[in-house]
Amino acid sequence: MQNLNTVILAIESSCDDTSCAVLKANMVLSNITASQKIHEQYGGVIPELASRDHQKNIVPVADAALKKAGLTLKDVNAVAVTRGPGLMGSLLVGLSFAKSLSLALNVPLIEVNHMQGHVLAHFIDEPDTVLPKPSFPFLCLTVSGGHTQLIKVKSALDFEILGETIDDAVGEAFDKAAKILGLPYPGGPLIDKYAQAGNPNAFEFAFTKVPGLDYSFSGIKTSFLYFIQNNIQKNPDFVKNNLNDICASYQHHLIRVLLKNAKRALKETGIKHFAIAGGVSANSELRKQVKALEKELGISTYIPKFEYCTDNAAMIGITAFYKCLEKQFSDLSITPLARMPV
Ligand code: KG4
Ligand code: ZN
Repeated sequence: MQNLNTVILAIESSCDDTSCAVLKANMVLSNITASQKIHEQYGGVIPELASRDHQKNIVPVADAALKKAGLTLKDVNAVAVTRGPGLMGSLLVGLSFAKSLSLALNVPLIEVNHMQGHVLAHFIDEPDTVLPKPSFPFLCLTVSGGHTQLIKVKSALDFEILGETIDDAVGEAFDKAAKILGLPYPGGPLIDKYAQAGNPNAFEFAFTKVPGLDYSFSGIKTSFLYFIQNNIQKNPDFVKNNLNDICASYQHHLIRVLLKNAKRALKETGIKHFAIAGGVSANSELRKQVKALEKELGISTYIPKFEYCTDNAAMIGITAFYKCLEKQFSDLSITPLARMPV
């Protein structure tokens, strides 16, 4: 296989986005995602409905990705797929599809860890854009609906977790608060939107003490619920009258918690390159505050393009490219992993 001309068809289906991308080496030629709207009304992802939608979407999305790249299945040299972590039924759809393609086309199958993909999204290039890339080792704050991790990234394939959540992920803290406020799933982007017009110091939330560089977000979720219930008892219109300030204050609190440990990790390790990744890295205030760390700490920061923050197959493809360079191929007997450490 010619590594620099390798065409990788990448597939991501770990949660509620069906995504396929085509890469030529580290260059993304196409990245198409079908996001499932059906979960909005339920306040969270319903696993059975997610698997059914993946089944419906996967062939048309792969087709569209190849068409946009101007290629056909005959051009594909390797098939990359998310093996985990994620929802079992959702992963199964992508993995079965990828295995069938690998077998039918007689090309290698490359399994990818979804969380590693989020981090390596920083190494994606586009045909007309070379995006700035962090140097190794760098610190990555990976923040999504299922994970919150502080990772020392020593090389593309060598990660050390310095801290992580001991309970809920920060994305869950956003989504569950949004649900309490009566907003549809996923609530993170809506909290971000309302927060832009609010006062971040209007309301105070207490910190949960956690040793070392770990995080905990389950306490804040419960205290947010009591905070809303208590205020509604006094004034039934409390949420309606204060939505912007509530969102701004809550978001401010979550970002303060996230960056407190990140700053500590940067100090302790002496690392000068700091990146954020995962769905929550799309948050406008987090992006602003991370950028401001450049001046405050004299470091370089890396913020992904919006389309590579939330779940996408381009990040699976770029990770597969690095695995391909090391000839790390998978056997067709692999099964999905709901939990899969990086
Ligand atoms: O990485 P991702 O797409 O899926 C997982 O791997 O979990 O992350 C989804 C999470 C959701 O919790 C969603 O609310 C959150 O990312 N999110 C945001 C924003 N955009 C997406 N949270 C806060 N502000 C945003 N702008
Ligand atoms: Zn994700």
